[in-house]
Amino acid sequence: MRSWPTRSLALGGDYNPEQWPEHVWAQDGQLMREAGVTFATVGVFSWSLLEPEPGRFDTGWLDRVLDLLQGNDIAVDLATATASPPPWMYHQDGDLLPERADGTRLWPGGRQHYCPSNPTYRERAVQLVEHLATRYHDHPAVAMWHVGNEYACHNTPCFCDRCGVRFRAWLERRYGDVAAMNEAWGTAFWSQRYTSFDQVLPPRTAPTAVNPTQALDFRRFSSDNVLELFVAERDVLHRLSPGVPVTTNFMTLNHFRHLDYFTWGPAQDVVSTDHYLVAAEPDQEAELAFSGDLTRGIAGGEPWMLMEHSTSAVNWQPVNQAKAPGQLLRNSLAHVAHGADTLGFFQWRAAKAGAEKFHSAFVPHAGTDTRLWREVVQLGQVCERLAEVVGSTVQAEVALLWDYAAGWACDQDSHPSSLLRYGDDAHAIHRQLLLGGIAVDVVHPGADLSGYKLVVVPTLYSCDDAVASSLRATAERGASVLVTFFSGIVDPNLHVRLGGYPGAFRDLLGVCTEEFAPLLPDQEVRLDGGGTATVWTEHLHLRGAQAVASYLDGPLPGVPAVTRNEVGAGAAWYLATRLDGDGLEALVGQLVAEAGVSPAAAAPPGVELVRRATTDRSYLFAINHTGGPVAVQVSGHDLVADTAVDGELTLAPGAVAVVREQR
Ligand code: GLA
Ligand code: ZN
Repeated sequence: MRSWPTRSLALGGDYNPEQWPEHVWAQDGQLMREAGVTFATVGVFSWSLLEPEPGRFDTGWLDRVLDLLQGNDIAVDLATATASPPPWMYHQDGDLLPERADGTRLWPGGRQHYCPSNPTYRERAVQLVEHLATRYHDHPAVAMWHVGNEYACHNTPCFCDRCGVRFRAWLERRYGDVAAMNEAWGTAFWSQRYTSFDQVLPPRTAPTAVNPTQALDFRRFSSDNVLELFVAERDVLHRLSPGVPVTTNFMTLNHFRHLDYFTWGPAQDVVSTDHYLVAAEPDQEAELAFSGDLTRGIAGGEPWMLMEHSTSAVNWQPVNQAKAPGQLLRNSLAHVAHGADTLGFFQWRAAKAGAEKFHSAFVPHAGTDTRLWREVVQLGQVCERLAEVVGSTVQAEVALLWDYAAGWACDQDSHPSSLLRYGDDAHAIHRQLLLGGIAVDVVHPGADLSGYKLVVVPTLYSCDDAVASSLRATAERGASVLVTFFSGIVDPNLHVRLGGYPGAFRDLLGVCTEEFAPLLPDQEVRLDGGGTATVWTEHLHLRGAQAVASYLDGPLPGVPAVTRNEVGAGAAWYLATRLDGDGLEALVGQLVAEAGVSPAAAAPPGVELVRRATTDRSYLFAINHTGGPVAVQVSGHDLVADTAVDGELTLAPGAVAVVREQR
């Protein structure tokens, strides 16, 4: 077995040679060396080639691919190939297909057309992995196992009857008896009382809103149910291929929330994720940074692998924008800044056929006499110089709490306002910190908060009592805590915490709200300190806190919109509305100053700054997101430009530097 490549920062990606005639392969090896590629993920979608008929395996081509990569000194992240079952499987088992909430079946012809509870899929997947692990565990190229691919991307939640059976078993384990489930689900409402677990169904499309706790439990179940698939394959690999790390690529993008990655993270030998820029995001590169910080939180602060991103355009958005010159390097190094030790891409060679033929790659359709290829080669050279960064960890003084279950619950229907979506406020605040040069750890609400000077709690609609105690202790020891509206409203069963909102944090914040007064889509209210707010207001009373800003108009003139409560040696702030950009920038500035949080270096606003460090070295990542040149105060050696920096680094618009700091 081979160790993961560290002679440079690992660079590579999905390699699908089975889609090309073999004479292309030799050229691939040569071009990979030219680009500085050090790893390849192989076989992700090759089940129908590896097992053309049930139980008949054909691995000759894969032997040749692995040998070719070995000959070119390229480490292999070998896929278990179970991401998409072969066409024969549906004909063997007509129950294979996943179902949507309205009963629509999702047919073969694309990919991932399996129900996660289907026994044929489960058995066949394990058999294939046994075969591959037996054959390749000691192949000298194999450095990692890549289980499945982007679990849940297209087929989860599945609402079919088989998933219903497993859902009921999951509920029995969770609640013990049906009375406890009735209590948790509040089934006295709308005649929903069950007398047996056998009566429970997945929360399918109903005449009107379905039981919220049933819907939330089904999300929790679906994440756990799919995790079983990963664990089954991983356990085979640990048994038959000991010592080779196992991972599956997450999707820590803002718009993908089907799995609770905080429960998936500990099941990985190394956390890996995929990230793509999404044009619909208000700020695509801020979202990229958030994704990196979240992935690091899932990885417990350790370095992680970026398994996939794109050299340029993707193929699955309404308009697939090409990356601008320099953006490939900037985006790649932004992932590294936030903790990636591997830079993977989808994919090596732009496909000639199939649904992804207009997706960018290392080698574009036009070949290597292209700007894209030249940027790829440049990236490979930078990765070589970044080898020394591998293993260092990100230093942050700010934590932002993220919780998948709270998000699932927050985004349910029948709530005060559908304009409020989980993540919007989290991303807006994170972005302000980022553009202020402040690094942020995005962590689970149950994380240890003892090292942070500032803790941000955006839209944590549901939480348990322990979160409230942990935040109180955080403020008491001297940190600042910022809670935003629609946090602490319900318990983990989605029962309202009575006595005034936000029940879990009322005492901490020193406020009590008697009624929500959300705003219409185009409605804006003015604040007495200047600026405007949208989406939300609430009829809040001070119970010990001070008003920092109040509404001048709207439904609640004179009522506080931002408050601050002194708690022990620290403070707890409440943001009861959504501030406009300038207002949020000012508030974040106040919090950062009060908490004594400092940027990683002196630089103007709009420069992303992150420090990665080991016990004896540190690296300052600086990315200029402004439209003009900026100066960053730092001394050392810029590994990107390979030049010395003496006191001041000048960065062109869109440029990125990684400075080994002089200490
Ligand atoms: C995902 C998948 C890849 C490919 C890319 C396209 O990340 O894992 O197989 O489909 O999307 O962007
Ligand atoms: Zn199913």
